[in-house]
Amino acid sequence: MKCRKCGAKASVNMRQHRLALCKEHYLEWVPEQTERFIKKYQMFDRGDKILVAISGGKDSLSLWDILVRLGYQADGLYIGLGIDGGINYSSESHRLTEKFANENNLKLHVVDVENEYGQPIPMLSEISHRGHGKPCAVCGLTKRHVMNRIARDLGYDVLATGHNLDDEAAVLFGNTLQWSSEFLLRQGPVLPSTEGLARKVKPLCRFYEREMTAYALLRGIEYIYEECPFAEGSTSIYYKELLNKLETDRPGSKLTFYLRFLEARQRGDLFAEKDIRQANLHPCPNCGQPTSAQGLCSFCRLMEKAEGVATISRSAL
Ligand code: AMP
Ligand code: FES
Ligand code: ZN
Ligand code: ZN
Repeated sequence: MKCRKCGAKASVNMRQHRLALCKEHYLEWVPEQTERFIKKYQMFDRGDKILVAISGGKDSLSLWDILVRLGYQADGLYIGLGIDGGINYSSESHRLTEKFANENNLKLHVVDVENEYGQPIPMLSEISHRGHGKPCAVCGLTKRHVMNRIARDLGYDVLATGHNLDDEAAVLFGNTLQWSSEFLLRQGPVLPSTEGLARKVKPLCRFYEREMTAYALLRGIEYIYEECPFAEGSTSIYYKELLNKLETDRPGSKLTFYLRFLEARQRGDLFAEKDIRQANLHPCPNCGQPTSAQGLCSFCRLMEKAEGVATISRSAL
């Protein structure tokens, strides 16, 4: 297989695009495509201050690398979740994120959940009895809250995450199986800013996961290979496997599934306006982030519960 641009030996062959490229041209192609997506979906421009949420995985570290190379003002945010799982998941991902920031002279904000909120994620989850023994729901809620808070408090215009096509197609598949119109209408490369929340963008949403792996490897980015130990057996991994089977038989179907959805939604073909239930958001009286709940937002309710339990266990000593 030869590189389409220079005829040298290809390093990456993308069947779905009928495109093979050598290392040098692949490392040019990925940022060029990212720039194209940023413009196409009007994500941000060079005057915007961008906060990139970094997990220490291949996608978010590659995203940071690409944005900086393209000349955007991008700082990082790492959230220490306190997940060990026998592989030191959190400490290892923190180490690799710091390493990347130091080597590239980039600014990284770090928020440690245990320091800031008194307990690591697995404990917060246990205390709240949410998620049937799996901390993923509490983890997602906490990450969202922290990302929104840091973006708002430090004055960032945009919050960028490293979600790739495999992530987005799996979420879309789940939402389609349920025909959850509220979620379907909100899913996309850009979530506009609302009162008190920065705009959210996913610049890698059109890259296959294997394309991002190839980018990180060819660029020499050191990232955490392991998935979060709690992800095992999750529905989203099951959907990813199903879509991968489909993709093997019909290359390109994952991308088509996602892009045709975006196009249909753009045309207004999917749901009538009346189906868009206005969420009726108001600021949480404690943290100020928008919520549809009566009274405190779900994160503040979680904190209230956790603090109550912490006080009880302290007084029992
Ligand atoms: P995940 O939900 O683990 O698939 O991650 C999706 C995206 O969320 C990543 O690409 C990151 O941008 C962001 N993210 C996940 N975990 C963290 C973390 N611990 N700190 C900061 N950002 C994160
Ligand atoms: Fe949060 Fe796995 S539970 S990353
Ligand atoms: Zn080439
Ligand atoms: Zn709140």
